[in-house]
Amino acid sequence: MNMRELVNKLNDLAYRYYVLDDPIVSDKEYDALYDELLKLEAESGTVLPDSPTKRVGGEPLKQFVPHTHIRRLYSLDKCNSFDELRAWFEKLKTALGSAPECTLEYKLDGLTVCLTYRDGQLVCGSTRGNGEVGENVTEQIKTIRSVPLSIPYKGEIEVQGEGIMRISALNKYNATAAVPLKNPRNAVAGAIRNLDVKETAKRNLDAVFYNINFSGDKVFTSQTEQIEFLKSNRFKTDMCFVSNDIEEIIAQIQAVDRNALDFAIDGMVIKVNSSNARTVLGYTDKFPKWAMAFKFEAEETTTTLCDVAWQVGRTGKLTPLALLEPVELCGATVKRATLNNYGDIVRKGVTIGSRVFIRRSNDVIPEILGVAETRDGAREISKPNKCPCCGHELIEDGANLFCPNFYGCRAQAVARIVQFCTKDCMDIDGVSIKTAELLYDVLGVHSPTMLYDLTADDLAKIDGFKAKKINNFLTAVRNSKNVDLPHFINALCIDNVGKVTAKDLAEHFGSVDGLAAATVEELTAIQDVGEIVAASIVDYFARHSDVVQKFKSLGINPEYVKRTGGKLEGLKFVLTGALSEFTRDGAARLIESLGGIVQSSVSKLTDIVVAGENAGSKLEKARALGKKIIDEIEFKNLLNT
Ligand code: IVH
Repeated sequence: MNMRELVNKLNDLAYRYYVLDDPIVSDKEYDALYDELLKLEAESGTVLPDSPTKRVGGEPLKQFVPHTHIRRLYSLDKCNSFDELRAWFEKLKTALGSAPECTLEYKLDGLTVCLTYRDGQLVCGSTRGNGEVGENVTEQIKTIRSVPLSIPYKGEIEVQGEGIMRISALNKYNATAAVPLKNPRNAVAGAIRNLDVKETAKRNLDAVFYNINFSGDKVFTSQTEQIEFLKSNRFKTDMCFVSNDIEEIIAQIQAVDRNALDFAIDGMVIKVNSSNARTVLGYTDKFPKWAMAFKFEAEETTTTLCDVAWQVGRTGKLTPLALLEPVELCGATVKRATLNNYGDIVRKGVTIGSRVFIRRSNDVIPEILGVAETRDGAREISKPNKCPCCGHELIEDGANLFCPNFYGCRAQAVARIVQFCTKDCMDIDGVSIKTAELLYDVLGVHSPTMLYDLTADDLAKIDGFKAKKINNFLTAVRNSKNVDLPHFINALCIDNVGKVTAKDLAEHFGSVDGLAAATVEELTAIQDVGEIVAASIVDYFARHSDVVQKFKSLGINPEYVKRTGGKLEGLKFVLTGALSEFTRDGAARLIESLGGIVQSSVSKLTDIVVAGENAGSKLEKARALGKKIIDEIEFKNLLNT
């Protein structure tokens, strides 16, 4: 291949990978072609303007140069309630004489970027700035692999979109970063407005486009047409829905599960679709009257860190719990947040008395993202050296502190028993923290294995345990011996091993003995098992072979039987939305019991998508990929036939 062909080929492969999320070659094949191009470029001393080798960044820039936009970039009017949205729509109806068709898009929470293309080449990338003048960030923009360096369209055009950092990219970056990024918005703004372009490249940014700001003589009759144009010129876009019924649009907004997305959004954008209608409506001096941002409630705020309490978990790990000055967030009063571990405190530079960023998503306990402002008199969070529960000397392992008093530390023994009895483990009903504490305090139950030796007489000594409850408990304990291997591995409370990993391990090793004998190398060879998880597993079996022996002597030694010949054998399912007769887990178990495989996201490899009520982005993706989609009734038929 000559240089032009190689550049085209590589750009095409990157488009498939980064925009369509549908790669057609392995990374290795891509790298080989890329190396070939590098060699050609070095030999010839020429680099084509749209060569992918321009995406890595060169010498740091000296300063940012102002860039004047061809046409002013408008911002959006916003509202916070559906009633305000309805009122806006009523106004449109009055002005236009009928209900206009509107588009619905995500309001991406990143940094606005504006790209100019001439003769099909990206000639400038800039920030929004004050709407008229921004900063030239062309080199930074070029590092974004989903941004096309050249496009088929040859006229002069300016496209507007949002530079974003995906949550997965942020988490990956933070896993090894010296200074963690606080949130996706800061992360992307800091990356694009960074003079060291190599640093920008490290953040693996992405960009989604939603507007054509200038297109010379070329006219678009609607937003949908603009989006189609953007798509056909290889930009990533995100239009969700089109309707002229405001109630339908509101229902769509309500169905959005922002926590299920891999990028941050702070609302939804509703735009009048037709360009003619837009002309009738016009602009104020700040924003178009034909568009409205519906803002979600903030999930992030700042508050003062008052103190830190250390909690001991089931593996003996100490978790710092931040005690906060109460603050309203997402309609709830937040008083506590997690700080993960001691290393996290040091990394984030958090001190008592400082103001911190907190974030709340879904129902999980809020997290401290970093320091907003260090106040006078703030003091360091001291590293405990004794267990706050049992007083035992602590040990330090990487970023974590552990209490090694495995059986003698009440907090960890109780936490372990509670976890052991949950549905995701041995499914022994009725063991709350309170019950586990009583079992520990009254009967000295410090290890889950001891549950199997309890008699009715023992249990009768505990407050609240009457004949019926005792009987139910003993039956549940007995039945739990039939546990399957994934649940059993989960029940062992191995540090860093949750139910998903437990399942992978069960499938791979087939028995506890197999797992216990595994080396770090064998473990890390399994997809999604990294060094840390592998080390935790090896460490667990080195220290607790007695526990495993005891379970065996109780007759608990399940093997993983790979089911074959089930009628859903090998079929890959994705569950989305709410089903009325099944829980997600229940439906997944049924599919697996018939030999099917349950995936977490829709991909080219998915066979069937089961869509319940209010299914969102996964359903969209399934439609886009032309996947078979079935509803709950069809799903039931499939299971029963
Ligand atoms: S349209 C003329 N669409 O939100 C209309 N903006 O708060 C121009 N934003 O400055 C904007 N997602 O940076 C539009 N789907 C979307 C958007 C979006 C995010 C940003 C944009 C704008 C800001 C206003």
